[in-house]
Amino acid sequence: LTFRRSCREGICGSCSMNIDGRNTLACTKGWEECSSSTISIAPLPHQPVVKDLVTDLTLFYAQYDSIQPYLQSDEPDPEKERIQLPEDRAKLDGLYECILCACCSTSCPSYWWNQTEYLGPAALLQSYRWIADSRDDATDKRLDDLEDPFKLYRCHTIMNCAQVCPKGLNPAEAIAKTKQLMVSPSRKKTEVAA
Ligand code: SF4
Ligand code: SF4
Ligand code: FES
Repeated sequence: LTFRRSCREGICGSCSMNIDGRNTLACTKGWEECSSSTISIAPLPHQPVVKDLVTDLTLFYAQYDSIQPYLQSDEPDPEKERIQLPEDRAKLDGLYECILCACCSTSCPSYWWNQTEYLGPAALLQSYRWIADSRDDATDKRLDDLEDPFKLYRCHTIMNCAQVCPKGLNPAEAIAKTKQLMVSPSRKKTEVAA
């Protein structure tokens, strides 16, 4: 049986699959958490299967790449680290912990049906992770890039993403905050709520 795994402690995100009818990480899913002693195991739903439990996540990673997941600052490079106030750093809690396991995106019905156009909850949570970062100056550009009928607005708040995330994150909330910023008269970093 072919499957991916590396860290065996919920950090690398590579062992994601559907166990007992729910997307999760195989390494942290407990036997006793399953609904019966006969447990169904399947690859992540609605993804091309390479072999057995291994899915082709090429599109998923390309979508992550498309949101430019790195700091873009107008400030000159500092001699040491870029300083961030504790309260600004706290705004990244619930965002930076994403391990890109794809459990959320592949449990999202909107993503199932529109995955070539809709970015999906994982990429959108990562996008908001940079929008919310006080050190990043590309907020306007990041929001402009999402101004599209499909990339962001295909989220219909079904909430599967938040229910399955093995790290306890809430992509739907990050998507809602991005939508709020989209319509705010001035897209100022100060409006990013904690
Ligand atoms: S809340 Fe949005 S992203 Fe999450 S599962 Fe529903 S439609 Fe998909
Ligand atoms: S938000 Fe959660 S489920 Fe989605 S990719 Fe990140 S860690 Fe996985
Ligand atoms: S093996 Fe790394 S998250 Fe499961």
